[in-house]
Amino acid sequence: MSVPRPKPRPGVLDIAPYVPGKSSAPGVAKVFKLSSNETPLGPSPKAIAAYLAAGEHLEDYPDGSASELREAIGRAFGLDPDRIVCGAGSDDLLHLLAQAYLSDGDEAIHTVHGFLIYPIATLGTGARPIAVPETDYTANVDAILAAVTTKTKLVFLANPNNPTGTALSFDEVKRLHRGLPPHVLLVLDAAYADYVRRNDYEAGIELVATSENVVMCRTFSKIHGLAALRLGWMFAPAHIVDAVNRIRGPFNINGPAIAAGIAAIEDIEHQERSREHNTRWLAWLTEEIGKLGLKVTPSVANFVLIHFPEAKGRTAKDADAFLTARGLILRYVAAYKLPNALRLSVGTEEANRLVVAALKDFLAKTPA
Ligand SMILES: Cc1ncc(COP(=O)(O)O)c(C=O)c1O
Repeated sequence: MSVPRPKPRPGVLDIAPYVPGKSSAPGVAKVFKLSSNETPLGPSPKAIAAYLAAGEHLEDYPDGSASELREAIGRAFGLDPDRIVCGAGSDDLLHLLAQAYLSDGDEAIHTVHGFLIYPIATLGTGARPIAVPETDYTANVDAILAAVTTKTKLVFLANPNNPTGTALSFDEVKRLHRGLPPHVLLVLDAAYADYVRRNDYEAGIELVATSENVVMCRTFSKIHGLAALRLGWMFAPAHIVDAVNRIRGPFNINGPAIAAGIAAIEDIEHQERSREHNTRWLAWLTEEIGKLGLKVTPSVANFVLIHFPEAKGRTAKDADAFLTARGLILRYVAAYKLPNALRLSVGTEEANRLVVAALKDFLAKTPA
């Protein structure tokens, strides 16, 4: 007879653990990690200096409400700091929102190739994740609205989406919001908003400011290059800020992260340099990889999704192995229901050129 033992709540053991991008290639001296959408330019030197200075005071608890960071974000975006909550990465905030608004038996909608944390955060609360189809690797507002039931409590939308790189226009996001019942929370995850150069796009600030059921999440992990520090923020109506503040860890972000975050958000020049680098190389990669005969989903973020044929020796898995052997680490995205694709983060000029050259060699070789 088995000994009774503690059991996690229903749903927890249904979670497929999140597998981060690989960071090593055995036997290869120089590795280019292009698997986690990190910035090739690194953080602002001012952020590094602020981080190091904060390292002199590790004995002190951080300011649990991150007031100075929220004020700096407020200044940068013209927002009321009282409507901002900071988290240990935006992942932390996505989990907190799920915890605060989902219970056993509820449903939370995400799109089929949406960010993997959404079903994980949903299952962790005992609620059911509902994956809805996309059109051309892009969220489909009608499909999302058609999936809403009396049990729906939350809709997660990554805009732009990871790993597809596609985005909905502001008009489409507004149409989605209009179609949702007012008690359903719409979470606009705008982790890649800083890279978007499209006039019809809006990250979510306006919708949050004018409604009671929309939250926008942002991160310091991408354009600000502070992924290691785990820092994100959300802008939300006051009642949602209040709910999330009640359940978040009182010191959920650390002192050096607060200091670096303030310096990063104030270094506009560094952000602009990162954006320009991305705009240039995103277009170059899309065009050059397309010229090789591979389909690339048009992206507005800092990565591209490359589609491979299913023919033996030519698959995404084969390409992954070939590129890894050259120290080029991309992301195999089968877990996102994209078994025939690899996601490539925009890298340094050297890395980008090496990837295109390697893909050319991969396609030229006779399949084994
Ligand atoms: C769409 C999306 N949202 C959120 C995150 C989480 O970012 P972080 O927890 O580093 O802030 C990521 C990271 O890759 C992402 O792609």
